Amino acid sequence: MIRDQELLDQLLDTLSRFVRERLIPNEARLAEEDAVPPEILAEMKEMGLFGLSIPEEYGGLGLTMEEEALVAMEIGKTSPAFRSVFGTNNGIGAQGILIDGTDEQKAKYVPRLATGEILSSFCLTEPDSGSDAASLRTTAIQDGDHYVLNGTKRYITNGPEADLFTVMARTDPQNKGAGGISAFVVEGDTPGIHRGPADKKMGQKGAHTCDIIFDDCRVPAENIIGGREGQGFKTAMKVLDRGRLHISAVCVGVAERLVEESLSFAMERQQFGCALSEHQLIQAMLADSKTEAYAGRTMVMDAARRKDAKEDVSTLASCAKLFCAEMVGRVADRAVQIHGGAGYMAEYAVERFYRDVRLFRIYEGTTQIQQLVIARNMVREAQ
Ligand code: CAA
Repeated sequence: MIRDQELLDQLLDTLSRFVRERLIPNEARLAEEDAVPPEILAEMKEMGLFGLSIPEEYGGLGLTMEEEALVAMEIGKTSPAFRSVFGTNNGIGAQGILIDGTDEQKAKYVPRLATGEILSSFCLTEPDSGSDAASLRTTAIQDGDHYVLNGTKRYITNGPEADLFTVMARTDPQNKGAGGISAFVVEGDTPGIHRGPADKKMGQKGAHTCDIIFDDCRVPAENIIGGREGQGFKTAMKVLDRGRLHISAVCVGVAERLVEESLSFAMERQQFGCALSEHQLIQAMLADSKTEAYAGRTMVMDAARRKDAKEDVSTLASCAKLFCAEMVGRVADRAVQIHGGAGYMAEYAVERFYRDVRLFRIYEGTTQIQQLVIARNMVREAQ
């Protein structure tokens, strides 16, 4: 549901130039310093990247899902950690408030998320609750006009830096299932919040995760998202429906970048008296990667358009996440293979991407969780 083609083309054009001229040349530095360079962060804020999907009334650009997918594909053409820093504000960090929050909650927090003045995080996963998200143990017990939060959240993206957390916690300890969970907006400087050391990860250097520990952390009752207990798990699932589409689009962008890297290397590198790209076995790998990236793009665009048309895309978002995350894994593997020995060397971007893309099959729901969601929805619909 593209609202203004001309404006969108301008945005994509600007973004594409930013990726080519500013982000790609800084990929190695991002990985080496394990941080987004501060001047790049400032430019991202200036460009409005922190508020891409936030409605215009709160200071964002108000992109539709289709527009957001196109933007995510563009930004996917560079190290995923660049996207991660502002992706959370547009996505899982803000969407809980936007989808189910009260008008007061939206007015209080969303404008500052849109400008990047504050950074946000989504706290669902725990040490003993990952794929089985409804089994989470963090509690939020009402005490007068506050809730007291206790528990540990794990692998929280942007956790070391976040100023605001969307936290899923159990307000009804008797109810061990999804119905006992509520979602809260928690300000990062609330007493009782402790941050663990930054995790040492396989890839995506520059995007930080850590434990967030709530120790008798008192949160005003007005911060319960939507003002009602027991809705938090559904809020989290709705947030993830959108998030999974966004991640699928990023996977497509990364895959397209890897196809470009593979093609240019194959055209340059000579073996057996001609360019690698003249060898049919290399051509087969190039063709498979191109085809799969195209299939991913088509899938994401279809699901995004349907979401904009207000269809329930829970199944399709999972289909897209499943296919695109697995697809970019295969494309990255072929990219390394096409590069041969060079693909194993850190000076080539494909070595870094190979490690970076591994996360896509895991976060925002593993491939196996997507299979579960798809099949369960199929059975439910058939009944
Ligand atoms: N939209 C709205 N409501 C939904 C929903 C959706 N997409 N999916 C489920 N619900 C509702 C159900 O209708 C049900 O409501 P009722 O009780 O009223 O019927 C309720 O939520 C419970 O649903 P289920 O019975 O399906 O719940 P479940 O316990 O069987 O689990 C699951 C479902 C799909 C396995 C879910 O736990 C899940 O998605 N797990 C994966 C968690 C995940 O993705 N974690 C990633 C963490 S975030 C992250 O990675 C971010 C990061 O840091 C970058």
